[in-house]
Amino acid sequence: MSHSLVTIFYIVAAVLFILSLGGLSNQETARRGNMFGIIGMLLALIAVTASDAVTSYGVLAVALFPAILIGATLARRVKMTEMPELVAILHSFVGAAAVLVGLALKLNPKSHVGLTPIEVTIHEIEVFVGVCIGSITFTGSVIAFGKLRGLISGAPMLLPARHVLNLIIVGATIWLGILFVGHSDHAMTMLLIALFLTGILGIHLVMAIGGADMPVVVSMLNSYSGWAAAAAGFMLGNDLLIIVGALVGSSGAILSLIMCRGMNRSLPSVILGGFGTGDGGGGTVITPEGEVTSIEVAQTAALLKNAKSVIIVPGYGMAVAQAQHTIAKITKKLRENNTQVIFAIHPVAGRLPGHMNVLLAEANIPYDIVMELDEMNHTFPATDVVMVIGANDIVNPSALDDPSSPIAGMPVLEVWKAKDVVVMKRSMGTGYAGVGNPLFFNENTSMLFGDAGENVDAILAQF
Ligand code: TAP
Repeated sequence: MSHSLVTIFYIVAAVLFILSLGGLSNQETARRGNMFGIIGMLLALIAVTASDAVTSYGVLAVALFPAILIGATLARRVKMTEMPELVAILHSFVGAAAVLVGLALKLNPKSHVGLTPIEVTIHEIEVFVGVCIGSITFTGSVIAFGKLRGLISGAPMLLPARHVLNLIIVGATIWLGILFVGHSDHAMTMLLIALFLTGILGIHLVMAIGGADMPVVVSMLNSYSGWAAAAAGFMLGNDLLIIVGALVGSSGAILSLIMCRGMNRSLPSVILGGFGTGDGGGGTVITPEGEVTSIEVAQTAALLKNAKSVIIVPGYGMAVAQAQHTIAKITKKLRENNTQVIFAIHPVAGRLPGHMNVLLAEANIPYDIVMELDEMNHTFPATDVVMVIGANDIVNPSALDDPSSPIAGMPVLEVWKAKDVVVMKRSMGTGYAGVGNPLFFNENTSMLFGDAGENVDAILAQF
């Protein structure tokens, strides 16, 4: 393929990626957005494969086909509840790719051929920055994977002088970078030491964040992976990779800000770590206690049948139980009975940004009855029944009442203001943040214990 044709393919692909991001910002257009992304990626792949950058199709095939096979199998097999881990480990691949591209370019004796001294310096900076960003992304994502999978404790690890340690690593990396670009005799050693130090920084940054702040880690690593891809684009002189990397990097950064706003945190305070420890505001964390009222399936169904208005609050447990399809059927029955049904979605419900929206869309729940937290809190006092399905942290009143709580200050869905609240979960166990929930002991709260999937099936059978 000629150079100008490759450029045309790149431009079309870049436009499709921008349209894809635009489409993904809205549920109605999300499918179309995804389609644009797939076509854009396909065009990019065709253009790169047919360009003169490829010198051996044999080597490309050996690298490409196993990767396509493994990726497709993993994506098909992954359960919705395992998605965050998959996303985290995929981010680590982008980081590893940036590191490998940087090291390969440094090792390639011909990589400076035909470059002016200024261009050589710029190239060296690109390699150094690319390797460092890639290394932070790689180790940070591996730790996030471990935390989300439960292989590493979710609690933040707080070393006594952690900020000083981070500053020392950043200072040392900059110094190594200056030596590296200054054509030190030991440039490769400098690069490897920087690779090691930034790897430690990635581990340390993510280890220090925990509990309810993990959503920000996921979106932040998404952003880092974008910048790592952009860095690889600079190193390889590939404009499309730079554009795509910048799109992913900046949209991930915006998502992190949205997540922080959803949790009433500032981005620097989350990045520097320390929230979700149980000592957020100082003092002792209050453990809720009192009498719990349980409820049976038949009573829950009767409550729903008699209600004029119902709000459903889905959480991580709904994803585990895969209860969304039956909930969609119950919603249909209720609406046929002239009951107003609304779904209230918290920005960090589940384990992925937009996790609940995806599940509800999969079950064909109409978009116009799916509302966000800020649209919902004023409607609870006028609501007859709230059904909390496998949610915990996002409906925890101690976020508002208990300054010593690890989730203090996080906006929550104020479900307790409704006339009746039914909470479906299997036990009195805590949610992701590991905090007790006083909601369960309220007079107007009834607990419907058991697997949410089995319970919603039984409720549907009562209609
Ligand atoms: P959680 O607070 O994690 O609570 C989920 C509840 O679901 C658990 O208490 C569990 O109680 C129940 N459950 C689990 N399996 C169930 C099943 N089969 N049937 C019925 N109930 C089941 O979830 P949430 O309220 O959605 O809040 C999300 C939390 O995850 C927040 O702390 C958030 O910060 C964090 N987080 C979010 C993200 C993103 S990006 N959304 C990423 C990482 C972490 P039982 O064990 O008693 O059943």
